[in-house]
Amino acid sequence: MTAPTLDIHLTDDDLTAALRSDARRGLTSSPKTLPPKWFYDARGSELFEAITGLPEYYPTRTERALLERVVGEIARIARTEVLVELGAGSAAKTRLLLSAMSAEGPLKTYVPQDVSVSALRGAAAEIGREFPGLAVHGVVSDFTDTLHNLPRGGRRTIAFLGGTIGNLVPAERAEFLSGIAAVLEPGEQLLLGAGLVIDPEILVPAYDDAAGVTAEFNRNVLHVLNSRLGADFDTDAFAHVALWDARNEWIEMRLEATRDMTVEVPDLDLTVDFARGEQMRTEISAKFHIEGLSAELASAGFRTEHVWTDPQDRFALVLAERR
Ligand code: AVJ
Repeated sequence: MTAPTLDIHLTDDDLTAALRSDARRGLTSSPKTLPPKWFYDARGSELFEAITGLPEYYPTRTERALLERVVGEIARIARTEVLVELGAGSAAKTRLLLSAMSAEGPLKTYVPQDVSVSALRGAAAEIGREFPGLAVHGVVSDFTDTLHNLPRGGRRTIAFLGGTIGNLVPAERAEFLSGIAAVLEPGEQLLLGAGLVIDPEILVPAYDDAAGVTAEFNRNVLHVLNSRLGADFDTDAFAHVALWDARNEWIEMRLEATRDMTVEVPDLDLTVDFARGEQMRTEISAKFHIEGLSAELASAGFRTEHVWTDPQDRFALVLAERR
């Protein structure tokens, strides 16, 4: 077995610079916004793990059960030599793919990508031990702009699971999918996990659970600004809001100021006022129709090869080939 390697294209300084620029832009725009990628410090990642076990949060377990059922078929169709996983994190669902792809196909290399060095280092080492024949090359980068750092050579499948594609607005999705298409050769593939449009009575509680874990996850972005930028948000003074935007077909999470407030962000030399009742958008989680998703893939240069859905049509796995 060869030891896993780790390429770091994104340092802690890069991350701080990106956070500063996102926070400045978001807190000075009207309405205020903050991008969802900043939920995930160590505490935020733990809270997200807790969310995946909540009775109301169906996406993770639905995708997992679906993947368990169809992973052999995916492996036979994809004939993957190099599996690239975007946003691999702790690589929880990856084992299913890796086992099937090495049992049913010619898999040689696994390339987990994530913004978190710590998550990736742990995952890469474990996977390296569990799959001794596999070369593991971790890449620490930001998936939205560092696709060109992915290795070439060997028939590649890029996996982007979990429904995270839904965190991007349509224009960002188009850019992201075209970016993936641009680094793939014709015949190489994208395996995409996406939440489907379902009854809002199921969707909304998934993002507004009774135990309040999602509310705490949502407020965590303020803890991140406090600890990384020296801000003084009173996080308890913000209420969690989750609503279904039927026109855009996305869940929107917001934080609502429960009183008038002035917040200092010393590292940005910024003072921000909140009026009581003011809402700040922190995440969209778009849901899809298969036809719409296929159309978006087609305009980015992909041909949809196969779509699998769970028995309740809540989640889809799409295998698409670069044309
Ligand atoms: C990890 C981005 C797929 O959008 O469902 C969970 C994040 N936000 N609860 C999602 C999330 C609120 C999640 N993704």
